Amino acid sequence: MYSPPLSSRQGDATLAHHEVLEVDAGGAQDGPRADRTVAIFGAGRVGTALARVLLGAGYEVRVVGSGPATGIELIVSVLAPGAIAMDAADAVAEADVVILAIPLHKLDSIDPQLLRGRVVVDVMNYWEPVDGRLADFAGSDATTPIVAARLAGATVVKAFNHIGYHDIESDHRAPGEEHRRALAVSGDDRRAVDLVLEMVQRTGFDAVDAGGLHSSGVLQAGGPVFGVRLNQTDLRRHVA
Ligand SMILES: NC(=O)c1ccc[n+]([C@@H]2O[C@H](COP(=O)([O-])OP(=O)(O)OC[C@H]3O[C@@H](n4cnc5c(N)ncnc54)[C@H](OP(=O)(O)O)[C@@H]3O)[C@@H](O)[C@H]2O)c1
Repeated sequence: MYSPPLSSRQGDATLAHHEVLEVDAGGAQDGPRADRTVAIFGAGRVGTALARVLLGAGYEVRVVGSGPATGIELIVSVLAPGAIAMDAADAVAEADVVILAIPLHKLDSIDPQLLRGRVVVDVMNYWEPVDGRLADFAGSDATTPIVAARLAGATVVKAFNHIGYHDIESDHRAPGEEHRRALAVSGDDRRAVDLVLEMVQRTGFDAVDAGGLHSSGVLQAGGPVFGVRLNQTDLRRHVA
């Protein structure tokens, strides 16, 4: 598994921008903070794959299940050793970023109040065979604006939805390595998008800013980038 060093920040303008943001956000005088804490809702295929690459990239990872933490302690210790199973409120309280890696039809099982004020990464796709017919999502061009509306008070960013869970670990590469795959990040809040762009970079992909949530439909199932291995140039062209 590719595990970038915590200081791996070369060659990316986004990271330079992020470093400025870090000083603004935290008031730190000693440069950007190397570590961040991520809470992942969902100990399933995507949740545990993301947990592993995030751990490899130096993040602290908390994993939240559909019930109490005790229900997923074993699965987390086996599938994402180093991550900590936690109850939702505790995990969110510690998190810089919250990732939603649960089936879309389970979204309403999360109390939106819990996520108020948080940067939330929407990894979810609307998939009728799994989710059933969800009237709001079925007719929509883009699902994440609907997720964002339901999580009023959170800052929602879409990312990691257009890569299969099995590719998350096999496709990540060190910066500058040949055939490095690009992944898109879409969102309306500059600081939140920058946080997630950095996360994508650090987990071993070239990050591409795909613009605001209104245009995030291009990342969804059936779209031109969904499940497709693209480099940064080609991904940029598709989301332009
Ligand atoms: N599979 C992929 O390759 C892939 C790739 C990109 C994006 N996605 C999207 O990512 C999402 C998750 O997919 P997946 O394949 O990882 O599904 P999965 O393997 O079925 O895992 C979903 C997990 O979410 C848990 N969960 C349900 N409600 C929850 C809640 N309120 N809080 C915390 N955890 C909760 C489930 O627990 P219980 O079993 O206890 O309900 C289950 O462990 C879906 O929206 C999917 O479309 C999937």
